Amino acid sequence: MNLKDFIYNIPKAELHLHLEGSLEPDLKLKLSKKNNIDIGQTTIEEVKKSYEFNDLTSFLAVYYPAMNVLQDESDFYNLAIEYLKKAKENNVKYVELFFDPQAHTSRNIPFETVINGYYKAVSEASNYGIKANLIMCFLRDMSAESALEHYNMAKPYRDKILGIGLDSDERDNPPLKFEKVFALAKEDGYHITMHCDIDQKNSINHIEDCLYKIKVERIDHGTNIVENEELVEFAIKNKIGFTCCPVSNSFVTSDMKGKEIKYLLDKGALVTVNSDDPAYFQSYISNDLYELAKKMDLDKEDIVKLVKNSFNIAWISDEEKENYLKQVDKFVEENK
Ligand code: ADE
Ligand code: ZN
Repeated sequence: MNLKDFIYNIPKAELHLHLEGSLEPDLKLKLSKKNNIDIGQTTIEEVKKSYEFNDLTSFLAVYYPAMNVLQDESDFYNLAIEYLKKAKENNVKYVELFFDPQAHTSRNIPFETVINGYYKAVSEASNYGIKANLIMCFLRDMSAESALEHYNMAKPYRDKILGIGLDSDERDNPPLKFEKVFALAKEDGYHITMHCDIDQKNSINHIEDCLYKIKVERIDHGTNIVENEELVEFAIKNKIGFTCCPVSNSFVTSDMKGKEIKYLLDKGALVTVNSDDPAYFQSYISNDLYELAKKMDLDKEDIVKLVKNSFNIAWISDEEKENYLKQVDKFVEENK
């Protein structure tokens, strides 16, 4: 089997996927019509033309206003279902889905509308041959008080949320701003992860604080860790996962950070490949793996390592991990 088909067909886990970032232009237009919301664009070409970004801030400036089209429970449900369909096409078997409640409550959409819509889709994921879980993210450019308020709002839905994350604009919004709410989340048994976006001001300090102080289990992006060998060793020793997103990186920075991902992979760090915001970067997980493979001349062995890392750092039981890893081994055996 050629490398491209191998990549597209191998069973995968996706661990860095923003549901709001999977809002494709056609669904955006459909919902803007249905909900009578003027988004300033009426054709797919016009929507795509509005995708003008070259860093995280300019990306987020396009990303948040588009969410206005999400109004009722069925909109959130349909958004997640559309992602699950794409995930199935990409042979994703397990997915952890980020969602940003504050991006919706700040527009007067009730928290329960968001979680009920998303969770309904999650509970139907098996129809697509997928197991899915939700990770609730706080927007780091909002206050620590707002994060805590939303943490409390989520309490009645504790069994529907697997983990807590942190995303949005990292500039002057360090991990320690959210130390308290993440300590609470840990106490309450949530898994925790934080974005450390690529080439941010103080990236390496943010990574250090995530690892040593917040004690996250994973870092989303985080490849700037290569700047400090002691931190790399710590991450390897403590089995910290890195959810890298090469195509996303190439949109918001100068390149996909392939060298860094390969270096970490070869050293034994638990790096993985994911799509981040596939509708905006026009790349789902298989394409992310393929683009990285082309750029870095990866072979099948590298791909298998990346895919296995994803199952290994997924927040699932050991038994489930073993099961998925066996599926990967079987695929590799049959498709050498
Ligand atoms: N929200 C959606 N995508 C993001 C990213 N790559 N970094 C930070 N916040 C995000
Ligand atoms: Zn992200």
